[in-house]
Amino acid sequence: MIRVGIAGIGFMGMVHYLTYRKIRGVKVAAICEKNFPERLAGDWRAIKGNFGPQGQKMDLSGITKYAEFDAMLADPNLDLIDICLPPAAHAAMTIAALKAGKHVVCEKPIALKPSDATRMVDAARRAGKLLSIGQVLSFFPQYQYAYEVAQSGKFGRLLGGQFKRMISDPLWMRDFYDPEKCGGPMLDLHIHDAHFIRLMFGMPKAVQSVGTMRGQVVERFSTQFLFDPPRMVTAVCGVIGQQGRPFTQGFEIYFEKATLLFDYAALAKVDDAVTPLTVLSDDGKVTRPKLGSADPMEGFLGELGDVVRAVQTGKPSPRLDGQLARDAVVLCQKQTESVVRGRAVKV
Ligand SMILES: NC(=O)c1ccc[n+]([C@@H]2O[C@H](COP(=O)([O-])OP(=O)(O)OC[C@H]3O[C@@H](n4cnc5c(N)ncnc54)[C@H](O)[C@@H]3O)[C@@H](O)[C@H]2O)c1
Repeated sequence: MIRVGIAGIGFMGMVHYLTYRKIRGVKVAAICEKNFPERLAGDWRAIKGNFGPQGQKMDLSGITKYAEFDAMLADPNLDLIDICLPPAAHAAMTIAALKAGKHVVCEKPIALKPSDATRMVDAARRAGKLLSIGQVLSFFPQYQYAYEVAQSGKFGRLLGGQFKRMISDPLWMRDFYDPEKCGGPMLDLHIHDAHFIRLMFGMPKAVQSVGTMRGQVVERFSTQFLFDPPRMVTAVCGVIGQQGRPFTQGFEIYFEKATLLFDYAALAKVDDAVTPLTVLSDDGKVTRPKLGSADPMEGFLGELGDVVRAVQTGKPSPRLDGQLARDAVVLCQKQTESVVRGRAVKV
């Protein structure tokens, strides 16, 4: 039985806790929360995110509770530390946990700066422990389908894609535009697509981005990822000026023998706008593959299932690899640089 300690009982800490309960071979043995003592006592009613259930009163008997992270690290019963803390804390806490001899899974983004991400990857190598980064997107069914057909070669060569992630200004996120705390749309939102693009296409030679700044972070942007032709990859991301569309994501992905389409927008007060995953194939057919549940909670089941399997087998999950997550942060940094400088930037 793998015994996990979750650090940070906020939205993601709750999502991870609920998810581990559905995975065999793992048990949440400890939780750590510094700022909300009532959450250690089981009152999670104030926790709410943009998907998943609203927090409830929890029965946490049998779970050790810590207010201090270092005290949890000293717990000899824990094999895996799950870091659901704000991004600015990821590097220091991850490195401390690895040094304490624990495996680590850390939420996205791995870090706010590539140099911190590199230190985390190096620390895992030195400690001989697994570092998994919770880049969940490729476990969502539409993205997982695209990943699997790219891996299998079912539709021939991968030629390119367009990726989208645009939201109404998240007024409820206090630190959203703070480069030292969250990193704005680039590191909070686009990091998902940057990681997926890196996973599917590899590292581009350069990026060319145009966009608008809000303080020190990019507010809204469009990027061309420059690969050798014929590969063409673009992405748009950021916040729009109006409320009313709290979340949207989508893609077109081009293979030699098929194009995949997907679009999802959560809209206020009217039904969500959805183009379910659709495959246009060479023979003129338009099909909608049967996919697993679209509930985002299922994506976390896939992701954390991979983490647990990695710890059980000692084999890292290819999709949750630390270096890959670091590359995604590098891509974000280069895109910001490209917006600021007004020219293409080598990767
Ligand atoms: N994959 C996704 O879809 C997704 C969605 C939301 C958030 N996230 C990521 O998850 C991470 C956490 O985000 P969140 O929305 O859960 O934030 P949150 O603010 O809801 O939760 C963070 C929790 O950590 C606690 N905390 C802070 N410092 C601490 C410390 N030193 N010791 C113990 N507890 C401490 C806070 O009190 C808070 O309860 C971020 O990296 C975020 O980017 C990922």
